[in-house]
Order: sequence, then C-alpha cells, then structure tokens
Amino acid sequence: MLRRVRIVLLGAPGSGKGTQGPALARRLGVPYISSGDLLRARAAADPDLRRGLATVLDRGDLVEDHVVVTVVRDALTAAGADGGYVLDGFPRTVAQAQALDEFAPPVAAVYLDVPDTVARRRLARRRLAGRADDAVDTVDHRLRSFHREIGPLLDLYRRRGILLSVDADQPPDAVTAAIVDALAGAGRDP
Ligand code: AP5
Repeated sequence: MLRRVRIVLLGAPGSGKGTQGPALARRLGVPYISSGDLLRARAAADPDLRRGLATVLDRGDLVEDHVVVTVVRDALTAAGADGGYVLDGFPRTVAQAQALDEFAPPVAAVYLDVPDTVARRRLARRRLAGRADDAVDTVDHRLRSFHREIGPLLDLYRRRGILLSVDADQPPDAVTAAIVDALAGAGRDP
C-alpha cells in the first residue's frame, strides 16, 4: 500500500465528501480529516471561540483561511500519518491550496460532481437530523460560496494534472467505485 497517498475531496455541500471520505481513507490506510468536523468540534469545545466560530458555521460563511489552515495542519501533524491523508472540505480556496502545498501537497484532487438540485435534495433530507447550516437559505448561501471558489481551485489542480472528476450523482457504492477507478486509472491507487 502506498504510504504517501494524499487525496483532497472537492465538491459542493451535499456532494458526498463526508460519505466517501472515511471509506476511501480506510481503503487507502490513511487518516480521514474533515475540516468541517474539526471546526464544528472546535466551536463546541472552546467557550471563547463558541460564539464567533459557531455563528460563522451556522451562517454557512467560510471560516478565515488562516484559522482553517492551522486547524488542518495541526490535525495532520497529530495524525502522525507518515504524510498520507484523505482531506474533506479542505482546501476550499486557492490560498488554502497554496498553504497545503507548503506542508503536504496532494497527489490527487477528486472532484465529486453533482448538480445543485441533487445537493439541495440531499441536504433537505439531512436537515431533519438538525444540522443548523442545512436550513434552506443557508444551503443557498453555501452553494453560492462553493461556486465562487471552486473554479480557480479546479483550474489549479487541472493545470497540475492531478484533477479527477467523478459523477457523484449515483448511489454511494457506485460513487466509491468510480473514485477507486479514477484513482487507479491515474496510477494513484495502491
Ligand atoms: P463541511 O462540513 O465541509 O460542509 P460542506 O462542504 O458544506 O459539506 P456537507 O457536509 O454539507 O456535504 P458533503 O459533501 O460532505 O456530503 P455528505 O457526505 O455529508 O463545512 C461546514 C462549514 O465549515 C462550512 O460551511 C464553513 O463554514 C466551514 N468550513 C469547512 N471547511 C472550510 C474551509 N476549508 N474553509 C473555510 N471554511 C470551512 O452527504 C450529504 C447528505 O447526502 C447526507 O445525508 C448523505 O447521507 C447523503 N448522500 C451522500 N452521498 C449520497 C449519494 N451518493 N446518494 C444519496 N445520498 C447521498
């Protein structure tokens, strides 16, 4: 098994990053790290941060680059992962991608491609589970933010030749298989 498999999962809210990430990481034998999970845990745990950070998350705004970069870098260091990872939700901006390049550049960027209508439908179902940022207006806001940031990020990884686009509008197992196929086709699978 490759020891330095570094994969970033890109995609809209509801594209399935959090569904695919853990399974992929297990398969590749590397840590799964979700910037959203890390930020939610941090907002819940630190009373000084709670109000500010939780408000940003609940509104569906992007957290400042320097905060997210620090949180993700610390998590990667703590994972002691010999350099491997599956990252979900990070990077989200070119500035974050440039920061990641400085400490652990990815070997593949997997873009989970879904239409907004599908993402909205999935998040509408998940809303029942009570995640605050799944409210209808907040999902619209998150999708707008996603579309604003994703183009330059895809361009960056496409130019580097490591972008793999996967049709994520399929049942979860089919998406997993498509990701594994794409990685194998690109020679980045163990
Ligand atoms: P984050 O937690 O990263 O949320 P997100 O990117 O909006 O993604 P979601 O968790 O909503 O969706 P997902 O793509 O993971 O899909 P999932 O598998 O869960 O970020 C939350 C917030 O944190 C941000 O808004 C921001 O404030 C902040 N943040 C995080 N990272 C940041 C960064 N780098 N920079 C700045 N701020 C940052 O699936 C969704 C639903 O669909 C589930 O119910 C699932 O069961 C279902 N589903 C999944 N796949 C399928 C399928 N194939 N078929 C049917 N249903 C499916």
